[in-house]
Amino acid sequence: MHDTPPVDLLGGALKALRGSFRFDHVVALSRERALYHAYDLVLKRPVALRLHLIPESPGRAWFLRETETLAALDHPAVRHVYAAGEVESYAYRTNNWIDGESLADAMHRGPRPIPAVMSLARDLLSALEHAHARNIIIRRIVPTTLMLDVSGRGVVTDLRHANTCMAFETTEATQTATPFCAPEVRAGGVGEPASDVYAIGANLYYALTGQEPAGDGGALVPPRKLRAAVPAAVERVLVRALRAQPGDRYFTATEMLEDLVVDAGAFHEPAAEPQLVDAGFERRLRRALGDDYELLEELGSGGFGRVYRARDLGLEREVAIKVLHPALTADLGVVERFRREAQLAARLSHPNIVGIYDIQGRAGLQWYVMELVLGENLAQRVQRHGALSVAATERLLTEALSALEHAHGKGLVHRDLKPENTLIEPDGRLRITDFGLALALRGERFGGATSRSGTPQFAAPEQLLGERVDPRTDLYSLGAVAYFALLGRPPFDGISPEAILAQQTTDKLPRLTEQRPDVPRELEEVLRGAVASAPDDRYPTAHAFRDALERVTGGLWHKLLLLLRPA
Ligand SMILES: Nc1ncnc2c1ncn2[C@@H]1O[C@H](COP(=O)(O)OP(=O)(O)OP(=O)(O)O)[C@@H](O)[C@H]1O
Ligand SMILES: [Mg+2]
Repeated sequence: MHDTPPVDLLGGALKALRGSFRFDHVVALSRERALYHAYDLVLKRPVALRLHLIPESPGRAWFLRETETLAALDHPAVRHVYAAGEVESYAYRTNNWIDGESLADAMHRGPRPIPAVMSLARDLLSALEHAHARNIIIRRIVPTTLMLDVSGRGVVTDLRHANTCMAFETTEATQTATPFCAPEVRAGGVGEPASDVYAIGANLYYALTGQEPAGDGGALVPPRKLRAAVPAAVERVLVRALRAQPGDRYFTATEMLEDLVVDAGAFHEPAAEPQLVDAGFERRLRRALGDDYELLEELGSGGFGRVYRARDLGLEREVAIKVLHPALTADLGVVERFRREAQLAARLSHPNIVGIYDIQGRAGLQWYVMELVLGENLAQRVQRHGALSVAATERLLTEALSALEHAHGKGLVHRDLKPENTLIEPDGRLRITDFGLALALRGERFGGATSRSGTPQFAAPEQLLGERVDPRTDLYSLGAVAYFALLGRPPFDGISPEAILAQQTTDKLPRLTEQRPDVPRELEEVLRGAVASAPDDRYPTAHAFRDALERVTGGLWHKLLLLLRPA
């Protein structure tokens, strides 16, 4: 029921304020009050102008009290009072005009993006802390009056039910009977800081899930039941903020904020519990990843950094994140090179190459985000299940050569093909990762005092010598990887690059067919053509390698052989 004020009363008020304001349009009217979009003629800016029309009504004192309460707060996430006054029998106040929409309106388009909710949480919790320090408990924060400005910042606009106004409230006390108010406020209590913690928790829960939290004392549905991509740590924080008993919630807004900021992205399973030294690093990483990614678990680590499974909170999908070791990124030259190589690698688009999504650096850490490959790398595969069958090795070779052809065609040499960078999806599809990054991070040379040594077993002789690499370097490494797949160990072993180099240059390869009678001699010949120590003795291109492979594997006779001799 929307009563409107008597026309003459409203007309009188507008007239009384005409010298200071231009009234652009009316936004809302009730029996005693009016809200206008207006223009301040003195300060020359748009304002929200609220009028209170009836001096003798109890609503007048309430209006003035809310104005005072708003004026006591000076925080970007609370609506500002610009001016207030009483002219003739009218009272008014002006606030900043907020371009934007209410949370309730935004929710018509569906739950909010997770990073947006995280930043909303920060805005609101810091506003709460500001209010609580001034003994103001807001008590009622609901999506219809919680504004989101055009930059997405949350702004509390309604303080009518704050503790400071309670003595003056007139008719609208039932307004606190909403699931967004803490149970003790719903029951008519003055509330405490933890009551506002509840209110914020309720709004965040709603923004994330689209559901109001159970207000009737029923059990709270965990947010992740409603939206699986909600970070585990955020769920934990919300569940605590929404406890029925104020004493079970966060004591202060800052406590909730800290918990949210420090822990967002915590590990799911305690089983993945990081070691003590790691805890510091992961915490730092989580902070650097901010609202964009939730860290889920460590997948492995190598010479240059660590790889994590993570969730992209903006796109709500799982990704892999490779974070470079901080010692590497201290060198700005390395970071620069890394960015350039990542840009090149990001141009690759091939079903057998792990795609790069993004590269970012923050808080002294540098990482890139890539497609997550579920499955295992070739080294793990061989370790767990033994050497690959001939058919599986041929598939791996065919797919890898197709990937290399694509990359070499774009001028990119991998430089670090090895079993750890050769990922195998559950359906057997090969995915090559870390294209070009070895150059950026290690430089051209293996070993040496300044560089991380990497894995020399799969490097070509020219790499170990620090000479120029070209596409044929990758063909050598792939050949060595194929040997590894079939033998379960690299063709040349040794602890130092020098020791390996010495064996490579003799071109004395282990006899595949001796250890694996099921390997066709023709296939062995094809592989030997890849791992020749002199680049000129190898296939000139990935294409030529693939042709040679196809000649051996394409024939009917070969397929029949494979059928007759399963590994
Ligand atoms: N996109 C990905 N999806 C899933 N797992 C991955 C992905 N990228 C890498 N991994 C896993 O993470 C592990 C660690 O990778 P990382 O690149 O840090 O080390 P590495 O490959 O052993 O050595 P290097 O640092 O020389 O590349 C890999 O062995 C692989 O199993
Ligand atoms: Mg790798």
